[in-house]
Amino acid sequence: MLSELEALLKENRLFSPSEDLMKNSNIQKWMAHYGITSYDELLQKAQNDPEWFWDELAQELEWYQPYENVLKWDPPHAEWFCGGKFNIVHNALDRHVKTWRKNKVAYIWEGESGQVKKLTYHDLHRKVNQMANALRGLGVKKGDRVSIYLPMILELPIAMLACAKIGAIHSVVFSGFWAKAFQERANDAKVKVAITVDGFYRRGKVIPLKENVDEVLDDIPSLETLIVVKHAGSPVHMKPGRDLWWEEIIHEQEKECITEPMDSEDPLFILYTSGTTGKPKGVVHVHGGYAVGIYTTLKLVFDLKDQDIWWCAADIGWITGHSYIVYAPLIMGVTSVMYEGAPDYPDPNRLWEIIEEYCVSVFYTAPTTIRLFMKYGEKWPQKHDLSSLRLLGSVGEPINPEAWMWYYKHVGNRQCPIMDTWWQTETGMQLITPLPITSLKPGSVVKPFPTIKADVVDNKGNPIGEGGGHLVIKTPWPSMFRTLYKDPDRYVDAYWSTFPGVYLSGDVARIDEDGYFWIQGRADDVLNVAGHRISTAEVESALVSYDAVAEAAVVGKPDQVKGEEICSFVTLKKGFDPSPRLKHLLREHVRREIGPIASPAFIGFVEDLPKTRSGKIMRRVIKAKVKGDDVGDITTLANPEAVDKLDHPL
Ligand code: PRX
Repeated sequence: MLSELEALLKENRLFSPSEDLMKNSNIQKWMAHYGITSYDELLQKAQNDPEWFWDELAQELEWYQPYENVLKWDPPHAEWFCGGKFNIVHNALDRHVKTWRKNKVAYIWEGESGQVKKLTYHDLHRKVNQMANALRGLGVKKGDRVSIYLPMILELPIAMLACAKIGAIHSVVFSGFWAKAFQERANDAKVKVAITVDGFYRRGKVIPLKENVDEVLDDIPSLETLIVVKHAGSPVHMKPGRDLWWEEIIHEQEKECITEPMDSEDPLFILYTSGTTGKPKGVVHVHGGYAVGIYTTLKLVFDLKDQDIWWCAADIGWITGHSYIVYAPLIMGVTSVMYEGAPDYPDPNRLWEIIEEYCVSVFYTAPTTIRLFMKYGEKWPQKHDLSSLRLLGSVGEPINPEAWMWYYKHVGNRQCPIMDTWWQTETGMQLITPLPITSLKPGSVVKPFPTIKADVVDNKGNPIGEGGGHLVIKTPWPSMFRTLYKDPDRYVDAYWSTFPGVYLSGDVARIDEDGYFWIQGRADDVLNVAGHRISTAEVESALVSYDAVAEAAVVGKPDQVKGEEICSFVTLKKGFDPSPRLKHLLREHVRREIGPIASPAFIGFVEDLPKTRSGKIMRRVIKAKVKGDDVGDITTLANPEAVDKLDHPL
């Protein structure tokens, strides 16, 4: 007998949102306002006239000075809302405190140890103003870079908003990265000020962030001041003349602060992400277009209304958190839940308890979390009243149909459509996604958002009818990244030169007969481990920086929960012998160089790595071997015998 899932997939049944949800959705109302009667009609109209679409949505935000042109497109360089004066913080905070939203809760924050804090828009506005004044007092000016190395505590959005308010450019570094990764990013951005915390909680343990970062602070020559938030109460050493406590510097500050009117195209933040080389890429986003893109998608895809409680269970250290925990929800004026810790700590009730406790109505998470909870079993969500939910979301990696069905059935009680949204750090906003009025297929990200011209092409750039190919975007969108920080050539080379003037996403996808998109994974040497983007080259260079290691090759191995796990093969220098202890030391070393998320799940010591005759490590062969795929023709390798030996590491 077919399982329920197999039956559904065989039927190719479409899942449709309820009539009620569709009728009352923001997208339906928005279309009705323009006399548009179907989503297909909107897609057509927006495709024909993208500037009309984005102009209308940009007008829903407040501009200090109106823009003259919606778009200037000189491929691959776009400028949106040119000539407009704008500040994202004016839209996220200042305008709300002039309305009834002033007393609305902006964030409900829950610490891992159970502590709860609520901040209204008014509270948040005041705290941001005080921090902005403090930063100005420290000499931070428009265009200066500030590094923010904080966990999921309220000071993180406050610090980001304070920077943006005065026109400084923030660079948030994920708190799961270790000090070396922080140092590399801080030096690349030449930051003047950095903000960190004494310590934070993860699975009941205190992670001493300040102590970790102390190792590298003297090697960041541009750094003048380090601001430290007191959170876990862990002991820290404060260096006189450089280190200041957050509480002390904001204490006496004025609660008002003038927001800096920025040019629409002025940089808002740099967020480093992994590419195919060992050097992270500083993705640059700007105030105007970024705000319009993320606001539009949150409003139309996740359909947020004033009465919603929104929980995007990502970390602000990644783009998902920047766009959909900090900026877009605040621009929309909704109440968000923010949670400090692990979703299954102290037990698998935690995630469901939070949804129940705060009556979360729209919930956005990653497939890896769904698969983790699938493993724990449906008894955990079933113990809780999840009836407040009306819409669900998924992001970060392909969601397999089994996980989709589990999420749909056991979390959404078959009532909540799942918005499986495809996008990237570079895109800033969701680009290929369902809407609450589109039919869904489990595992598909449905169709490109209005105006987005996405396609799947072969190596020559020709559209592919069937089968997988490169996912590309052929037209600009407002929240696209504008460049790579201090590396404009890499911006062009990495993304826009394979197919000139067309954006190469780095993903492989296919389009089915209904025009639905299916993302199949990365085409390049970038791994996706539990939704985190990790470059194989970065892990390799961390491994070879250990003195016992001669060479290293890192590939992804499919994993049921994490999507992929890091698998490494290492050759040792003369005089060093393989041992379990050395494996342990290597893992520790990678944790310190990059962070715990990059620590290899598998380390295999080998005498030799498969190589071409010119000495290049054949990662393609290693990858195939690890996945159990056919390794193909290896007769041209310099050392074909090394391939079989991968099965029997030392
Ligand atoms: O491979 C795609 C995958 O995540 C990559 C982008 O990673 P990052 O820049 O860290 O941003 C993640 C959050 C937006 C993409 O190149 N990805 C993202 N969303 C999906 C996805 N893969 C499949 N389905 C998705 N919905």
